[in-house]
Amino acid sequence: MVTGMVSPDLNSANKHFSPKQFRADFPALNSESVYLDSAATALKPKAMIDATMQYYTHNTATAERSLHHDAVKVTEAIKQARQNVADLIAIKNSSEIIWTKGATESINLIAQSYARPLLKPDDEIIVSELEHHSNLLPWLIVAQQTGAKIIKWSSNVDELTSLLSSRTKIVAITQMSNVTGFCPDLFAISQLVHQYNAILVVDGAQGIVHQPINVEALNIDFYAFSAHKLYGPTGLGILYGKKALLEQMTVWQGGGKMLKKASFTEFVVADLPYKFEAGTPNIAGIIGFNATLQWLKNWPLTQLEQYTDQLSQYAKTQLTQLANIKFYSVDNSPIISFNINQIHHNDIAILLSEQQIAIRTGEICAQPLMNKLGCHGVIRISLMPYNNQNDIDKFITALKNAMNVLI
Ligand code: ALA
Repeated sequence: MVTGMVSPDLNSANKHFSPKQFRADFPALNSESVYLDSAATALKPKAMIDATMQYYTHNTATAERSLHHDAVKVTEAIKQARQNVADLIAIKNSSEIIWTKGATESINLIAQSYARPLLKPDDEIIVSELEHHSNLLPWLIVAQQTGAKIIKWSSNVDELTSLLSSRTKIVAITQMSNVTGFCPDLFAISQLVHQYNAILVVDGAQGIVHQPINVEALNIDFYAFSAHKLYGPTGLGILYGKKALLEQMTVWQGGGKMLKKASFTEFVVADLPYKFEAGTPNIAGIIGFNATLQWLKNWPLTQLEQYTDQLSQYAKTQLTQLANIKFYSVDNSPIISFNINQIHHNDIAILLSEQQIAIRTGEICAQPLMNKLGCHGVIRISLMPYNNQNDIDKFITALKNAMNVLI
């Protein structure tokens, strides 16, 4: 557990984690193939698949609009899903939870609706070097639009002290790097950022999957993540923002349900959270994600994290025994990134795919970090509690086969 993380792992004392039972909840694992690409997107539990199928097969209806029976039920399910997300990240007020289409859109929303009207030339946005493109490009775009400056930061807390100033308006950082698995000390960072009246934006896309987070206790201003990395559907994202900030922000997109009144000359925006939710939401996605979150409540999150840590140690020990491996990831992380001397990462991906092993290779959406690490790409395996030692053993055998072909 990372310093400063206050776990909201609800009622975990009464829950038991059986790796075998957990794995059995994932229909995609009923095959010989091995899935080690969960940091790109996670496999889906049967509960989520069934709920989505049920909605499309029997209860298709709109949300927040029509008054017929299924539509009212759908509206209620979406309300419940919003509350389940709020509970997951330990937020009291569920109207601070906005549905988006992904973590990327959530951060773009902050950049365009919060930052763009606020930033003046020479204001500063501090962005860590660990960031995925989705927590860098929105800031580069808004910096171009406003004349603000991007300040590069190593993610080290001591260095942040020397970068912060009265010009700093925003600090953007990941909860867990998708390349190195490093988890910055968000508690210390948050305290420093607020001493300078700046706001803290945290990309939780990887971190939320493995570490329960208490967003209010950490005093995070904006928190973004995607459902699909947390066993949920694709095309659905979450933006948490503090009420006072969301209320002062300009609207993001115009359309149905984001307004109270409209004429040809003016409009009055709706209250939170609808102000930022123009158009019919991703209803099937939200219903599926609600089923995911209900299912996730059956499992003790801290035990899942410990199990994944153990798997990671096992995988790293096996990898370390191979020759010429250079690691880029931190120890005990569900994300293990490495290269093998004189072998191109993509050659490994292709040869592993032929042996039914799914991994990700390349720049993995983090070009600036690749430059810092001195490589053009990495080989990455990413672990989830549905993986097991057998998956790792098959991966290592396949990797050895690939290396024999390539060296
Ligand atoms: N952010 C995802 C990854 O790292 C897509 O693979």
